[in-house]
Amino acid sequence: MKVIIKSDYDEMSRYTADYIIRKINRHNSSPAGAERPFVLGLPTGSTPIGVYHCLVEAFKEGKVSFANVVTFNMDEYVGLPEDHPESYHSFMARHLFDHVDCPASHIHILNGNAPNLEEECRKYEEAIASYGGIDLFLGGIGPDGHIAFNEPFSAFDSRTRIKTLTKDTRIANSRFFGGDPSRVPEMALTVGIATVMDSREVVILCSGHSKALALKAVIEGALTQMWPISALQMHARGMIVCDDASAIELKVGTYRYFKQLENV
Ligand code: GLP
Repeated sequence: MKVIIKSDYDEMSRYTADYIIRKINRHNSSPAGAERPFVLGLPTGSTPIGVYHCLVEAFKEGKVSFANVVTFNMDEYVGLPEDHPESYHSFMARHLFDHVDCPASHIHILNGNAPNLEEECRKYEEAIASYGGIDLFLGGIGPDGHIAFNEPFSAFDSRTRIKTLTKDTRIANSRFFGGDPSRVPEMALTVGIATVMDSREVVILCSGHSKALALKAVIEGALTQMWPISALQMHARGMIVCDDASAIELKVGTYRYFKQLENV
């Protein structure tokens, strides 16, 4: 696992956006770019907003185009209208898709209002497979180590499915729902841990003190269902981009090891 520790949120966001831009541009200028689009997995949450901001700026400056990019979002609440300001459809439009040239037909977000939710999840996995899998999955991390909406004790081989949100996650996400956890939907559709880990590359963002224990668990802890993000330890091309605030629980030796590698 590669760990990049940046001094603050802005640096972390810029580094990650530049990394994604390089990957898209490299793909598009290679023979593979003419044959198939670059397939990008995307998260919501407050952490990736800085990355999206940098991607939009880079698009406006002509440094990247999303015309040959296909996207798959990680998750969506069940039963929340698509045009609700806190739906992940609205979030993605607001922070990325309304500002770049990604064709609407290339954008995939789970429909939490589908008449048959199980069918919706099955079709989502099929759609990912139809593009030959995901090239790069960008993700966030919950304070309890959840990834997408794969709460603690989610199976490592889980696929896209319906999940009941834990009380902790509803409390954490209540800040977007007027501070009232009961207004946070009880269920969500989410890609599974295996869906994310099948991606050719996984990049996880982690920022702030509230994520320090989760970061310690994924980097220094054991592989365990208690910390779903620990699955990243099994990925051949897994990378965490974090900031100093979230790195406070790491051992001094671990911190120095990754900082030293970064400077090589
Ligand atoms: C939600 C999302 C996750 C995200 C997490 C952390 O639960 N489903 O994909 O990683 O929030 O969000 P934040 O970045 O706001 O801390």
